[in-house]
Amino acid sequence: MFIFHSLLAALALLNETKEIAPGVYMHRISMGTCCGSDTTGVPGWIAAGGRGFDSAYDYGKQVSGGLQSDLAIAIAKAGMRREDVFITTKIPAGLGVSPEDCLKATVESTVEEVKRDLTELNTTYVDLILLHAPCPGGSEKNAILWKGLEEAKAQGLVRSIGVSNYKVPELTALLSTATVVPAVNQCGCSVQKHDDETIAFCQSHNITYEAYDIMKGCPFDDATVKSIAAAHSKTAAQICLRWALQRDIVVATGTGTDPTKAVEYAKEDLDVYDFELTPAEMDTLNGLGEAQSELA
Ligand SMILES: *[C@@H]1O[C@H](CO)[C@@H](O)[C@H](O)[C@H]1NC(C)=O
Ligand SMILES: *[C@@H]1O[C@H](CO)[C@@H](O)[C@H](O)[C@H]1NC(C)=O
Repeated sequence: MFIFHSLLAALALLNETKEIAPGVYMHRISMGTCCGSDTTGVPGWIAAGGRGFDSAYDYGKQVSGGLQSDLAIAIAKAGMRREDVFITTKIPAGLGVSPEDCLKATVESTVEEVKRDLTELNTTYVDLILLHAPCPGGSEKNAILWKGLEEAKAQGLVRSIGVSNYKVPELTALLSTATVVPAVNQCGCSVQKHDDETIAFCQSHNITYEAYDIMKGCPFDDATVKSIAAAHSKTAAQICLRWALQRDIVVATGTGTDPTKAVEYAKEDLDVYDFELTPAEMDTLNGLGEAQSELA
């Protein structure tokens, strides 16, 4: 019985994680800790079985409750060991830094930025670190920042490295000088707004596409979404998350800013592995996005 249960648990984990770099398995759904969701939700996320966390150096500057040090404390308080959780963070490239300062970045200063994240997170390594956005200095600057992440990886400070808010031209330029292919590109993405060109580019280069703002662009009140939800006895939010998973997109999503509701939201967010949208439903949902972007 014990072996049977362990096997089931192992299979479930396989389903709920994705290998984003050799031997690095990322949880398909991580808890975001910014902008409508903060670290007060961490106990609820862990209680619901969540083990993935998404942070950034500048979240602590953007929202109260977004400090990485608070994230580290909350994870430890919940009894988690470092190896029990998957932590994604970002360094302030392009976002969270002035254009002038981004232009000053060197390989060495980039490694220092990574170390600053580790200090805030009270850890010796993170599982994934991203350049938060392209630098206004263009592809030459991005190449230097990327070299810094490659160096941090070589030093064992990070298990895998990636980018955020990159589009096809920036990715193409980066790939022309990169030694390590980005493991992940994290971008705003939802049923209502999806950049299919970048998604296709990433997937054809084996770069895992990750969505943020998935709930911001979830058409909760759309009659079609509601009927798909009813057909599966799920909520609209769960349909939006499942849509991403079936496009092989991993997700960072929030649990709100009210810790008393976090467990409930976390359970809902993570309860999306026991059903499947039909190809017709996927087509319908993909079409809602296109209709929306034509309007925008
Ligand atoms: C894509 O990346 C994963 C993770 O590193 C690896 O297991 C897989 O073999 C890669 N696929 C291709 C086609 O390179
Ligand atoms: C940092 O982690 C260590 C255990 O690795 C713990 O003893 C210490 O209290 C933590 N410090 C903070 C500020 O969270």
